[in-house]
Amino acid sequence: MLNLAVLISGRGSNLQSIIDATVANKINAGIKIVISNLSDAYGLKRASKHNIPTKVISKKEFPDKESFDSELIKTLQDNKVDLVVLAGFMKIISPKVTAAFPLKIVNIHPSLLPEFPGLNVQKRAIDAGVKESGCTVHFVDDGVDTGPIILQRKVPVLEGDTEKSLSERILVEEHKIYPEAIGLIADDRVTVEGSAVIIKK
Ligand code: GRF
Repeated sequence: MLNLAVLISGRGSNLQSIIDATVANKINAGIKIVISNLSDAYGLKRASKHNIPTKVISKKEFPDKESFDSELIKTLQDNKVDLVVLAGFMKIISPKVTAAFPLKIVNIHPSLLPEFPGLNVQKRAIDAGVKESGCTVHFVDDGVDTGPIILQRKVPVLEGDTEKSLSERILVEEHKIYPEAIGLIADDRVTVEGSAVIIKK
């Protein structure tokens, strides 16, 4: 069974989809700990409802990035975490953390990467007039939203879409592909060759 840490900063709807998949035994993984950098993240309540241990590691409590990273790494190691799952975690993961967990950190992003990395991507997709958007699960490397892509799902961008309506359409697919991708990793079906991800049948 794959030990997960899920890192959040807010609402935690992706966290919920992962909790649901583990509780229903749809994936061979369990959440050891939920970590938030913000104490008022609603996702912490979702975790507690399922008796999942939580921890707040707030940047404010540490004098510098170095000590924040050390605390994060220590918490992950103490919990014997196999896979770090970023689910709306609004802090950039530093090279020190990626080095401690090489190809063991995944992220979900609400665009079809490499299109629209970074922030406010649903609005940017609408403003750019693209006809298709979607979501991506990828391994985290030292760039912003640049690591090897595991799964993507497309949705149409419709006439009259707002940031909200497009975000909601994408989120439905996020909730499907994140547990799916974690399940593939848990079943040892995902390998990385260079920047390419190979999924075993
Ligand atoms: C999602 O859109 C995810 O793709 C992005 O942040 C949002 C988090 O939403 N990285 P939630 O907290 O999981 O509801």
